[in-house]
Amino acid sequence: MANRNFSMCDFTVHEKIGSGVFGEVFKVKLADTQEEYALKKINLQKFNAEKEQIYPRREEKIHKSLLHERIVAFKCSFIDQNYLCLVLELCRGGNLSQYIQRNDPCVKIKSFFKFTKQICDGLEYIHSKDILHRDLKPQNIFLTERKTIKIGDLGVARLLEDPKCRSILTVGIGTPYYMSPELMNGQEYNKQTDVWSMGCTLYEMATREHAFEASTIADLKAKVSSGMIPTKLDQSEYPSEIKQLISQMIQTDQNKRPSVQKIRESICQCEQQQTQNISSGYYSTRDTYDDSSGLG
Ligand SMILES: Nc1ncnc2c1ncn2[C@@H]1O[C@H](COP(=O)(O)OP(=O)(O)O)[C@@H](O)[C@H]1O
Ligand SMILES: [Mg+2]
Repeated sequence: MANRNFSMCDFTVHEKIGSGVFGEVFKVKLADTQEEYALKKINLQKFNAEKEQIYPRREEKIHKSLLHERIVAFKCSFIDQNYLCLVLELCRGGNLSQYIQRNDPCVKIKSFFKFTKQICDGLEYIHSKDILHRDLKPQNIFLTERKTIKIGDLGVARLLEDPKCRSILTVGIGTPYYMSPELMNGQEYNKQTDVWSMGCTLYEMATREHAFEASTIADLKAKVSSGMIPTKLDQSEYPSEIKQLISQMIQTDQNKRPSVQKIRESICQCEQQQTQNISSGYYSTRDTYDDSSGLG
């Protein structure tokens, strides 16, 4: 497939499965083989200045260079009228934000462990290529039919070509609930900026609420820069080690946040402890721990 030039004629378009700032995402079928994919159509007209045209092209380039089980696979791309079309692996389980909303009062701890370890794997791979995601959030983390994680939407990812890179995101971000204080304040940032966003994502799995929310950007900036850990986390039924880990991930000083490797270690340790608790009868019903009943 990689050597063939594709165009819109090769696909039949089915239902819309998502939309974002610059376009829409459809389920499509490759007419030849009947294989299903996701087609992300990016409206190039929405990027007016010539300088901004690099954004969709960068998404395409970065996506092409990443090949990993935990990253949405890139199949091909082409231009159709004013749209850049990216043909991607189809994730049939929707996105993590939708999953969180379906799971009241929070994502079951067993799924939390699985998802977190898989996000660590994907993020570690992206970082190993000297790429920062910069927009990690539940809406950009997709689920397969078998409820495994795929990190997607590399729309504002960028190469960490300069450790002092200071670029402020001007396009591609809606309300920046998951944006680190250093990014918001235009300061130097590094891989730990993705750890902040991942921390906000884990917080949401634990509480079903945004870690930081405000009605204006200025208020949001003040909140994320305050160093205060939002209180809803205390009320979560997750183990205290996990709550502590999440708090460490969303601390203002990026150098104090745990590395992705450390996050994985802490998660594995806590999971082991929880498994022991289950076998010793600590959980009254298995339901508190597990969602393998098929719900969610
Ligand atoms: N490969 C995919 N498989 C399934 N759903 C997808 C896929 N890509 C995107 N989506 C859905 O479309 C939404 C928007 O896609 P995304 O790539 O995040 O675009 P944007 O850059 O506009 O935010 C996602 O939150 C998700 O629900
Ligand atoms: Mg998105």
